[in-house]
Amino acid sequence: MKHRFAPIEHWIAHEGGVDPWAIHWEARQAKDRGEDVILLSVGDPPIDTPVPVVDRAVAALRSGDTHYTEILGKMPLRERIAAMHAERTGIPCAAENVAVLAGTQNGLFISSLCLASHGDEIITIDPMYTTYPASIQASGAKLVRVPAHASMGFHPDLKALEAAVTRSTRAIFLATPGNPTGVILSESDCDGIVDIAKRHGLWIVSDEVYAGIADGNRVPSLAARLPDQVITVGSLSKSHAMTGWRVGWLIGPADLVKLVEELALCMLYGIPGFIQEAAIAAMDIRVETERKMHDYCRVRRDVLYRAVADIPGVQALWPDAGMFMLLDVRGTGLGSAAFLRGLFETEKVSLLDGAAFGRETDGFLRACFAAEPAELEEAGRRIRRYAASLA
Ligand SMILES: Cc1ncc(COP(=O)(O)O)c(C=O)c1O
Repeated sequence: MKHRFAPIEHWIAHEGGVDPWAIHWEARQAKDRGEDVILLSVGDPPIDTPVPVVDRAVAALRSGDTHYTEILGKMPLRERIAAMHAERTGIPCAAENVAVLAGTQNGLFISSLCLASHGDEIITIDPMYTTYPASIQASGAKLVRVPAHASMGFHPDLKALEAAVTRSTRAIFLATPGNPTGVILSESDCDGIVDIAKRHGLWIVSDEVYAGIADGNRVPSLAARLPDQVITVGSLSKSHAMTGWRVGWLIGPADLVKLVEELALCMLYGIPGFIQEAAIAAMDIRVETERKMHDYCRVRRDVLYRAVADIPGVQALWPDAGMFMLLDVRGTGLGSAAFLRGLFETEKVSLLDGAAFGRETDGFLRACFAAEPAELEEAGRRIRRYAASLA
């Protein structure tokens, strides 16, 4: 029998036809075979989850925390997340504003389903994280891109943003700090975006998965400016080296959270209790853990920036925060896809093609600097040698 599936190809299609992970998986396999590969293609630091977090999960498992849990999450965890949000934004936030979900990604997907459907439009900023097109279009909404040009330091073009709003627009999805750019929305970016959202009655979904590792462990807040129309999503993935635990949150108005509960019931049936216990332990050491991860990334950002400085034809962009640095390779005469492939084949360095994040980063490569400093220095030497071979 020929299998028939729902027609989802158009929204799961890769940006610009670029499979972001093709070189990464090839590189991963080569590394597993023992080849001298440097993998800077994925944002998953090679460090362990803090010991108290692991210990709490093990203890919870041993004490039988293996049953169904509350759909929106355990109250002590929701309260801690609410307290963090209140502290970061300066506005009141309570457990009723919080849903515990399976990571930021789950929060993005659920937000999309809660806010839009067929006939609606959702605006995102190009470049965007690779899962945005599918997460947004899964709701049936049309994805509308507004460019953040390299010439504007990848900050959103507010005039273009306003011009993109139509009667069908329901929401704006964005990430601060951004991925792949590492750009943090400035206070005036936030003012401008909120002003547009207010005047047109739009939701804003603010993806703050890297906010905890920004300077001061926070970013200028959209939610503080417009709490009734802003959904904030985030997780412990990046700040606590907990990418594989799949635990994060959605924070928004209480009536929206009630709707999220209905959806989360059919989608997840609750996050495992022992994972939530671990998350509680993680929240209890949040400030010092975020600071450590911030410092870890900061040192490595500087190492990579120095390692790729003054490479003819390659321009490194200074990120505000996060784990990534963009390298503009247009000056080498090669497009990003050709540079990426050539670099991997000749020098065994794996990066990610900027084109996978949108049109504005075609010609750029994304390097993750959450790696060992010696590896970053060696990657810099190899990129330099490859770029020189093109000259
Ligand atoms: C901007 C952005 N949003 C969401 C995610 C997914 O994060 P999580 O592990 O919390 O689902 C990532 C992961 O790299 C990301 O970079």
